[in-house]
Amino acid sequence: MKPIYSSNLPAKRHHSIFNCGEIIITHKPVLLEETIEALSPKLNGTYIDGTIGGGGHAEALLNASGAKSRLMGIDRDPDAVERCKARLSCFGDRFVCVHSDFASMTRVAQENGFNKPDGILLDLGVSSFQIDEPERGFSFIADGPLDMRMDNSKGMTVAEYLDMLEGDWQTLATVLRQYGEEPRATKIAKAIAAEQVKSPIKTTARLASIVEKAVGGRKGAPRHPATRTFQALRIAINAEMEQLRDGLESAISLLAEDGRLAVISFHSIEDRIVKQTFRAHEGRTVSLQQGGTEWEGKTPVVVRVNRRAIKPSDNEISKNPRARSAKLRAVRRIQTPS
Ligand SMILES: C[S@@+](CC[C@H](N)C(=O)[O-])C[C@H]1O[C@@H](n2cnc3c(N)ncnc32)[C@H](O)[C@@H]1O
Repeated sequence: MKPIYSSNLPAKRHHSIFNCGEIIITHKPVLLEETIEALSPKLNGTYIDGTIGGGGHAEALLNASGAKSRLMGIDRDPDAVERCKARLSCFGDRFVCVHSDFASMTRVAQENGFNKPDGILLDLGVSSFQIDEPERGFSFIADGPLDMRMDNSKGMTVAEYLDMLEGDWQTLATVLRQYGEEPRATKIAKAIAAEQVKSPIKTTARLASIVEKAVGGRKGAPRHPATRTFQALRIAINAEMEQLRDGLESAISLLAEDGRLAVISFHSIEDRIVKQTFRAHEGRTVSLQQGGTEWEGKTPVVVRVNRRAIKPSDNEISKNPRARSAKLRAVRRIQTPS
C-alpha cells in the first residue's frame, strides 16, 4: 500500500501538506489510504465528498491532489458542515462546504462550479460525532431523545414516526425486516406498538429496553439486541436507500471522463445497492438460451477499479472497531457524459 499523500502524483510535484487540525476530531476516517488509492487523485483535480462528516477523507484528498485542487463537501448534518468549514479553513477557497444531501449532488455541483469532478466519495452512514452525541438520538448506549435525523433542521424524528404509525405493528415489522434484516421483526414490532399505545416512546433508552425485553435479554450476544432496530428506524426516517440510489446515479453521471467514484458502505443492504448500480452501469454480455449473446444493463459508462470490495485490515479494525463492517467499492468513468 502506498502512503496516502503520495497518491499517483509525481514526487517532485509535491506541495506542502496542510494540517488544519487544531479542532479535535473524534471521527476516524475508515479505509483512508485505500480510499485515496481507489480515487487515484489527479494533480489539481476537482473533487466532491458527498458525506463530509468530520472532514478526514476530504483533508487527505485535498493534500493528495496538488496545491490547486478543489473539493466541495456536502453533508445533511448542519453541525458537520459548520465543523468542516472551521476544520478545513486552511485550504482557503480550495474548499467549499454545502448543507444539502447527496441525492441533490447534481444541482449542488452546478451551483458551485463542480460540474465535472475527477473524483467523488460517499462514506455512508453516521459519523462518530452523531453517535457520540446523545442529544442526536442515534445511540442506545447513552440515553437521549428518540430523534436520529441526520439533518436535524427538518423532517420527522423516530419518536414522531412511531407516533404516526398509531400501533401499526405490521408496517413497523416490514421496516425492521427490510432495513435491519431483523429476524425477530414481528416480535419486536408488536412489543414496540404495545408500549407506544401505553405512552409514546420518546427516548433511546426506553426503545432499547423494550427491544431487549421483547427478545429476552442479551444472552451474551456481542451486539446489543436493539442494534438492528435502531439501524432500521434510522434508515427509514432518513430515506437512506432512496438517497443512496439517487446519489449513485447523480455521481456516475457527473464524473469527468476517467474520474472515479468511491463508496464505503457499512451493511449488506447498502453494499447490495452499490454493487447492483455499478454492475448496471458497467453492462455485460450474457449468453442467450437460443444461442448467441445479448448486452445486459445500460450503456457502459464505468469500469470497476477493483473486482472485489476492499475491506479494512485487522490492524485498522483493532484501532477502530467501527470499521469492521466497512466495504469499499470504486468505479472509473469511461465516457464523457453527453
Ligand atoms: C461516516 S460519516 C463520513 C465521515 C467522513 N468521511 C470523515 O472522514 O470524517 C457519514 C456522514 O455522511 C452524512 N450523510 C449521510 N447520508 C447523507 C446524505 N444522503 N447526504 C449528505 N450527507 C449524508 C452524515 O450526516 C455523516 O456526517
